[in-house]
Amino acid sequence: MKIAILNGPNLNLLGKREPDIYGDKTFQEYFSELQFKYTDVELFYYQSNIEGELIDKIQELGFEYDGIVLNAAAYTHTSVGIGDAVKAIETPVVEVHISNTFMREDYRHHSYISSGAKGVIVGFGLQSYDLAIQSFLAEQTTT
Ligand code: DQA
Repeated sequence: MKIAILNGPNLNLLGKREPDIYGDKTFQEYFSELQFKYTDVELFYYQSNIEGELIDKIQELGFEYDGIVLNAAAYTHTSVGIGDAVKAIETPVVEVHISNTFMREDYRHHSYISSGAKGVIVGFGLQSYDLAIQSFLAEQTTT
C-alpha cells in the first residue's frame, strides 16, 4: 500500500512553531516514527509553502497512490484550488489537522477540503496523521 502525507504552509516549522499548539517535535522526527511503525506501507512525505506546488503534487500522486493524508494548513481555509484538486483525483484523501480547529478562531472553522475528503481527523496532535493512516489500512482489511 502506498500512502502519501502532504503538508501545507508553515508545517516545515513544526517543532519550533507555536509549540503550545503544535508540539515540539519536528515532522521529520515524527515521519521516521511512522516509517518505523508501518514497515509494510510505502510512505511518502512532501511539504510545500506554495499553493500551486501542493496542487501539482495532489495531481501527480492522485492517480497513483492508495491514499493521501492532507494537512493543507492555512490553505484549508482559503484554497478553492486545493479543494478542487482533491475532488479531481481518484485517490481518496483524508484531511487532517494537528490542532482542534473548531476550538480556535472562526476563520479556521471552514474548510475547502472537507467536502471532497473521504474523512476528516482534527485535534489529535501529530497522532492525527497516524489515525488517518490507520483509516486507510482498516479499509484495506475490510474490503
Ligand atoms: C492546522 C490548522 C490550520 O488552521 C493552521 O493554519 C495550520 C495548521 C493544524 O494542523 O492544526 O497551519 O492545519
